Amino acid sequence: MARRPRDPLRRARGLRCLERPFPAVLAWPNGRPPRWTDTTHPPMENEPVTNGRPPQGNQAATARIVALSNQKGGVGKTTSAVNLAALLAARDYRVLLIDIDPQGNATSSLGVEKDELATTIYDVLIGDVPVRDAILPNVRPGLDLLPATPILAGAEVELVERPARERVLAHACAPIEDAYDAILIDCPPSLGLLTVNALTAAQFVIIPIQCEFLALEGLSQLITTITLVKQHLNPDLEILGTLMTMYDARTRLSPQVVEEVRNIFHERHFATVIPRSIRLAEAPSYGQNIIEYDPASKGSHAYDAVTNEVIHRLRLRSPGADDGAATHSKSKETATHG
Ligand SMILES: Nc1ncnc2c1ncn2[C@@H]1O[C@H](COP(=O)(O)OP(=O)(O)OP(=O)(O)O)[C@@H](O)[C@H]1O
Ligand SMILES: [Mg+2]
Repeated sequence: MARRPRDPLRRARGLRCLERPFPAVLAWPNGRPPRWTDTTHPPMENEPVTNGRPPQGNQAATARIVALSNQKGGVGKTTSAVNLAALLAARDYRVLLIDIDPQGNATSSLGVEKDELATTIYDVLIGDVPVRDAILPNVRPGLDLLPATPILAGAEVELVERPARERVLAHACAPIEDAYDAILIDCPPSLGLLTVNALTAAQFVIIPIQCEFLALEGLSQLITTITLVKQHLNPDLEILGTLMTMYDARTRLSPQVVEEVRNIFHERHFATVIPRSIRLAEAPSYGQNIIEYDPASKGSHAYDAVTNEVIHRLRLRSPGADDGAATHSKSKETATHG
């Protein structure tokens, strides 16, 4: 009979698996994997998290771009991206959700019929269609969507031929950055060119992590990818936070996994944990987000609390703050994380 390890999380401790092989999208400098250091040095108290952009108060009129990424499948990337986008829009921020996953789950989660789409992110990445022509405006008040369909799977291969293939999304998004307060990118469960494009276009990454056995496996590969993108393609890139999802208080494993991740990412770890909630799982089948489907559910409250943390960490100004900058929305009190 196979022996069970006494500590099921032991193998993932200390991110020792940084030595594992890395996908060939990017080459290791000197043939060796770089060491990740940023996560062990969270921002000092009161230090603005601006990624080289002007801090709050006199910040330029440009969007905060956040990729939700984890190459592990089914960890809550799409659920988090859709609900964060909806909650930010509900607070009067101008939000664009970019679906860069060929599964198009973010697209269908918002009730958009993929079959009826004439233009999608594929046309932007491969056909040089201006991004404005592919965006679906106001899928919800204040929330625009750059949709994806399965045809996007071909882009992973077709992009290889393109010059500056890792920067195609960044270049495409440049003309529309001023039109939004926040742009969220829902990444596919891989570390291929689509994800690298998302990480190159973004300033921040949120890493959703499911509270499950093996949750940390593969995390080192993601950290290595983020490090390489930061070194070679996008020096502004930072981890905004690790977000624990599908927390089940009835198990001993869930708090254990949360503790492990907190010990690695320290203050970068979001304080809010998303519970396992059937309401969160049901909402997309009705083409709804959680504040439409069941605003009183614990899942809705949890995403509301994460939204507060995200607003705080991004240093997003209150919508309607009239300092001549980006936000045009009418005033609505914006909660911030204390
Ligand atoms: N907190 C939660 N409680 C219960 N079910 C959840 C929760 N979060 C997500 N789910 C469900 O788990 C499944 C995977 O979630 P989701 O699609 O958000 O993950 P993902 O990381 O985007 O997956 P993929 O890697 O395939 O893109 C979905 O069926 C979703 O409805
Ligand atoms: Mg997804």
